[in-house]
Amino acid sequence: MRDIDGNDYIDYVGSWGPAIIGHADDEVLAALTETMKKGTSFGAPCLLENTLAEMVIAAVPSIEMVRFVNSGTEACMGVLRLARAFTGKQKIIKFEGCYHGHADAFLVKAGSGVATLGLPDSPGVPDTATSDTLTSPYNDIDTIKDLFNTHKGEIAAVILEPVVGNAGFITPKPEFLNFLREITKQNKVLLIFDEVMTGFRLSYGGAQEYFGITPDLTTLGKIIGGGLPVGAYGGRRDIMEMVAPAGPVYQAGTLSGNPLAMTAGIHTLKRLQGSGSYEYLDKVTNQLTNGLLNVGKKNGHAMCGGYIRGMFGFFFTDGPVYNFEDAKKSDGDKFAKFYRGMLEEGVYFAPSQFEAGFTSLAHTTEDIERTINAADKATLLGCKATCAFRLLAVDNNRQPSWGARQLVPSGSWPWITIGNPLGVQGNLCLPALGRE
Ligand SMILES: Cc1ncc(COP(=O)(O)O)c(C=O)c1O
Repeated sequence: MRDIDGNDYIDYVGSWGPAIIGHADDEVLAALTETMKKGTSFGAPCLLENTLAEMVIAAVPSIEMVRFVNSGTEACMGVLRLARAFTGKQKIIKFEGCYHGHADAFLVKAGSGVATLGLPDSPGVPDTATSDTLTSPYNDIDTIKDLFNTHKGEIAAVILEPVVGNAGFITPKPEFLNFLREITKQNKVLLIFDEVMTGFRLSYGGAQEYFGITPDLTTLGKIIGGGLPVGAYGGRRDIMEMVAPAGPVYQAGTLSGNPLAMTAGIHTLKRLQGSGSYEYLDKVTNQLTNGLLNVGKKNGHAMCGGYIRGMFGFFFTDGPVYNFEDAKKSDGDKFAKFYRGMLEEGVYFAPSQFEAGFTSLAHTTEDIERTINAADKATLLGCKATCAFRLLAVDNNRQPSWGARQLVPSGSWPWITIGNPLGVQGNLCLPALGRE
């Protein structure tokens, strides 16, 4: 990726997930150009929509019918309405730190940007929109049992990220998904996997194929649009047949299933079908994650992390991290220094520890080596550089000298009153002074 100043970066954000075959892929661009010549949207179903639908149905174990929408948020809104209509019940259970888009009902203890900005219960969301949203810590079987007892006969669905990416990268305990499948089945509650992030990323059939657990309904987005706006929800035929026009549950969208998004999705999935795609993702992400953890530990930092195929994450804490509360123990100041240090070294990670990272088929083992070497520099210097060195290196314009720039990420420079350097000598904590 190149920024406006011409700096190049190795990108581990990947448009927050869609770019699993890299950016501006030649094949996808060529196919888009051909499709575009015929028109970009017709407001009627197009054949491409059928093609992508067939590919999704063939790939994702739970999906017998699918509806395309324009974003992951829309997919989650649609699936929620459908789950309530099908069960005739109102309440849903979601997990703290999981993010299901920005629809009102889901903005309760949410992850992703709302967690980063400290707004998990956003202003503007009326109480009435969230009064039926129950929450539980992730991986917490006892709380789920309690909620099922307390709200017997009232729960329509349990929705979760089968691997959390929006509170950092958090995997389910081995028994957790099985437990959810069992308790939902016993209580005639629908189990919904939000695979907007994990779909086609953990395996071609998503997290549900990877773990061998089949939910009733699934939401998708990101990868299935190959970088264009898309979302989808699907699942058991008897449930999906309730969606209009086949059934009475209304949901529609002017640009849903538009030819461009469908084209980019089809060609992205075709590339993923190529032999060895997921083995390759596994290889580079393993190399990356272990490399980062080794470098961090070598430099004396408490760190933990993990990965599955093309998705990874790490925290600046010893761990283990099983839920959002554990994730919050990660050292935010350290992460901020690390993040800025990596940017300075030409590596773009998500700017929050409450986000997962993404690898792609376009990442080479050389990219990973460069990243690990950069991390060695960034962790060492971002977190161990001495105050004295920094002060000496700052000139009268509060700019680091050239030599210092090589060592200290510019974004982490302290505010210093030039002319009074003695005031900040010694072991003073730099973050307490603020940053430029
Ligand atoms: C798991 C999950 N669900 C839903 C969404 C919302 O998708 P979108 O941003 O396309 O609305 C996201 C977005 O990151 C997500 O990660």
